[in-house]
Amino acid sequence: MIIAVDGPTASGKGTIAKALAEHFGLPHLDTGLLYRAVGRQVQLNGGDPDDPAQALAACDFADALLDDAALRSEETGGLASQVSVHPEVRQALLERQRAFASQPGGAVLDGRDIGTVIAPDADVKLFVTASVHKRAMRRWLEMTGREIEISLDAIEQDIVRRDARDIGRKDAPLKAAPDALIFDTTEFDRDQAIAEAIAAVEAALAN
Ligand code: DC
Repeated sequence: MIIAVDGPTASGKGTIAKALAEHFGLPHLDTGLLYRAVGRQVQLNGGDPDDPAQALAACDFADALLDDAALRSEETGGLASQVSVHPEVRQALLERQRAFASQPGGAVLDGRDIGTVIAPDADVKLFVTASVHKRAMRRWLEMTGREIEISLDAIEQDIVRRDARDIGRKDAPLKAAPDALIFDTTEFDRDQAIAEAIAAVEAALAN
């Protein structure tokens, strides 16, 4: 069984994908982490994330980089969004994601193009969204909780910029697959989002 979870940044897709994986006893891949590793590797190389050749060269990052705490930062998220525009980067990361998705027991993957490109035959596809304001608010609470000083406004602007780039790129843009369930978490807290997502997937599987 393959479950595809897509959606924009801070929509709650990562939390939901992780919870679904636990609930259904499936392995989980956060595909954004792969793009983040490429973005971080370009930075470590002193390269330019907008240059396709330099971004491609960064795709052979060492697996240990995936455990680097710096991958979670806003800065690396932005770099990931920049390198993810290049078709050669998407191609270089494709096989790794497809191989994960086709494990015998199944898998949960979350990202931007899981339901559209990586696993178009997924058994269930969730497209997780929430209002920009709510997403900014969540990110702000999370960051101030880690004692990072940043204004809500700056986060909101960053989210809008990142959405525009992820939606606007030519290759595998962020969009809901035609057969995806649109799952809006604006009015949900974390526990509600998880419970509703599990219920939605169970209902979809029963059909
Ligand atoms: O989910 P995230 O914020 O960790 O993703 C970081 C960036 O990586 C995102 O802005 C776009 C890119 N990405 C992508 O293009 N395709 C994916 N499947 C996952 C992430």
